[in-house]
Order: sequence, then C-alpha cells, then structure tokens
Amino acid sequence: MAYRAKKGLEDIICDSTAISDSIGETSELLYRGYPIEDLSENCVYDETALLVLEGELPSKERLILFRKQNIAIRQQVAPQMKLLDHLPASLSPLKKLSIAVLALEENSNYQADEVILAAMPLLAAKICTQIPAGTFGPTVFNPQLDEADTAKFFLESMLNKPMPEKAVAAFDKTMTVYAEQGFNPSTFTARIVTSTRGDVYSAISAAIGALSGSLHGGANQEAIKMLRSVPSVAEVDSWLAHQLKSGGKLMGFGHRIFRNGDPRAPLMKRCRDMLARLSPASPLPHLADALEIAVYREKELRPNLDYSAAVAYELLGLPDEIFTVIFAVARTAGWLAHIKEQKTNNRLIRPMAEYTGPEKRHSRP
Ligand code: ACO
Repeated sequence: MAYRAKKGLEDIICDSTAISDSIGETSELLYRGYPIEDLSENCVYDETALLVLEGELPSKERLILFRKQNIAIRQQVAPQMKLLDHLPASLSPLKKLSIAVLALEENSNYQADEVILAAMPLLAAKICTQIPAGTFGPTVFNPQLDEADTAKFFLESMLNKPMPEKAVAAFDKTMTVYAEQGFNPSTFTARIVTSTRGDVYSAISAAIGALSGSLHGGANQEAIKMLRSVPSVAEVDSWLAHQLKSGGKLMGFGHRIFRNGDPRAPLMKRCRDMLARLSPASPLPHLADALEIAVYREKELRPNLDYSAAVAYELLGLPDEIFTVIFAVARTAGWLAHIKEQKTNNRLIRPMAEYTGPEKRHSRP
C-alpha cells in the first residue's frame, strides 16, 4: 500500500467537534458559534467556561450556582493539598500541576470534571507561591476561598494581594482567549487518553504534559525570555538579523492553522494594553511592538496569542515559570469539554504509521 504520511498531521481531519471552530482562511475562532471577540468583550471567563463545557452561555442563576459550587469544592480541596509541599522544589510548576491533578479525588457530591475545573486555579496558585523568592516576591499562600469569580480568585491567590479591578478584568480576558481551540496538541492528547477509557485525571495530566513544550503552551514563557534578550527598541533589527541567521525560532510567532494571523493575538494585545496603562513606565510593550513589525517585515510571520499574553503576565508581576500554568488552568474548560465529547461517541484513537525500516529479514541461530 502506498501511503504518504502527512508530517505533523497537517490538514488531517480526524474527527468532528461541536465545541469550537478555527477558520484559518478568515482568521476566526468561534466557541460554540460565538466569535471570541464577542466573548472577550461581553462575557467573563466563568461564563465562557460554562459555554465551552455545556454548549450555551449560562443564565444568571446557573452562573451563581456554578460559582457557589467552585467555592465549596475549593474549600474541600484546600486542606488536601499537602502533596505539593512534598514534591521536589526543583520540579517545574507545570510538572507539579500535572502530578497534583492526578491526586485530586471526586467525592459523592461532585464529579471528577467539576472537581478538576474548580481546583485547578487553587493548585496553580499554590504552585505559584512556591516559586523561590528572588525571581518572585510573595511566597505566602493565603487564598480567599470565598471569592466567587475564578479569574479574580486565581490572580489574587497567585500574587497574594488584592488587585485593581482593571487588572483582574484584563487577566480574566486572557483566560477567555486561552479557554479553547479545537484539536490542538494538548486537547488531542486528552482525547487520546480518553479514547482508551483512561480516566479524566489522567487525561488532564497528560494534556498538561503536551502543553508544556515550547512549540505549544510553553511558548508564552519562552516569548518573555526572548523579549528580555532584545537589548532595546533601537537594536531590534540587529537582534532579529542575528536570531534569523542562527536559525532560532521566534517564540510567540506562527501558527499551524492561523497562517494569516491568529485572531486571539489582537485580543491578547488589548489585554496587554489595558495592563500597560496601569504600568506606563514599562518599556516592554514598545519593544514587543517594534519586534512584531520587524518580524513581519523580514519573515511575514505574525504573532500568536502567546506573544502578548507573555507581556501581559509580566506586567502583572507574575513569574515566567507560571505563564504556561495559567494557560493550563484556562484551557482546562476546553480539555474537559473535549473529554466529554470524546466519551459521548467514543472509538479508540489509533492511527497507523508508514513503515520505513529495513525489509523483512531473518535472524541466524
Ligand atoms: N520562528 C521562525 N520561523 C518560523 C516560526 C517561528 N516562530 N514559525 C514558523 N516559521 C517558519 C518555519 O521555519 C517554516 O519555514 P520554512 O518553510 O522555511 O521551513 C515556515 O515558517 C512554516 O512553518 P512550519 O514549521 O510549517 O509551521 P508549523 O505549522 O509546523 O508550526 C508552530 C507551527 C509550531 C506554532 C511554529 O510556528 C512555531 O514553532 N512557533 C513558535 C512557537 C510558538 O509560538 N508556539 C505557540 C503556538 S500557539 C499555541 O500552541 C497555543
């Protein structure tokens, strides 16, 4: 049989989904039919998470109930998080999250997916406060467990201080933008684990592993490191010429589907700009803009969502090591929705490979 393997499964449609639609040609992303521009303008993350998970935007009553449930679950989980104190300090925050999610337990009151969704920001916030002082100031973990709004709870628990309303609103929008995007590598990983009848904790833990790499979610951490290595706006061109000559990737640029531009990138930039107005002295947004222009001129590459998200999180005073963890927390809604969809009409995901090894041969006795 003559196969021609499609490297990276580019353009391969391997199943259907009703959760989101990524339209490369027109640079559009819709969650359950709603353009992400609408959702980031008019809805908060908790509403978007419910939309992604349940298929419709929640009524006021449903939202209140959901938030009450999240509070109750977090209050139950909080005393059970000792595991995180016993993991090696050298483990990356993302690996800690991947382990901690496996140790969560459902109980008679709540299902596994409800526990995971509510607990992820709590676990992630605790992990954030374990990042050594020096790279990051606050190390006290004192979450306000009665806070109903997930983005506010998550941000303020990580930073261990109340945050201005506008900062919370910008952070909330970044979570909405990160919430879901089709059969991306981490979501596909979660669907594969689910297709084997693996449990939801294992599927989410595996998805976190897939997200960690710098070609996927790890890019937001790498983007901030890259931007820091650009000495100044005046030196953007020479820095870029050197980078391109050495064949280095430009982190936070390019996308497999959104070749004409990632529709999430301008939304993330809007969040970044909301935060930049709160920290007007930071040179980072100007530097990022200058590099974006130069990269397009030299390579015709456009930024993806991770590029401005990295600057937004830096402006919030968050440590680099937590950037991808935030992505994981926000994307949990998407992962869980896909796990549910996979379960609903499951068939084992089991592709084939084109064999390129030696011809048939025999061993000698
Ligand atoms: N820096 C430099 N060159 C790039 C970049 C980049 N960031 N992205 C694409 N290119 C180049 C490739 O080298 C290739 O050039 P060539 O044809 O001369 O070989 C061309 O553009 C086409 O790129 P592909 O490699 O075919 O893109 P692919 O779809 O395989 O990869 C990816 C997409 C992984 C996102 C890539 O653009 C990349 O590595 N970007 C940097 C990492 C990143 O930001 N990842 C986050 C993606 S968004 C997300 O996961 C949430």
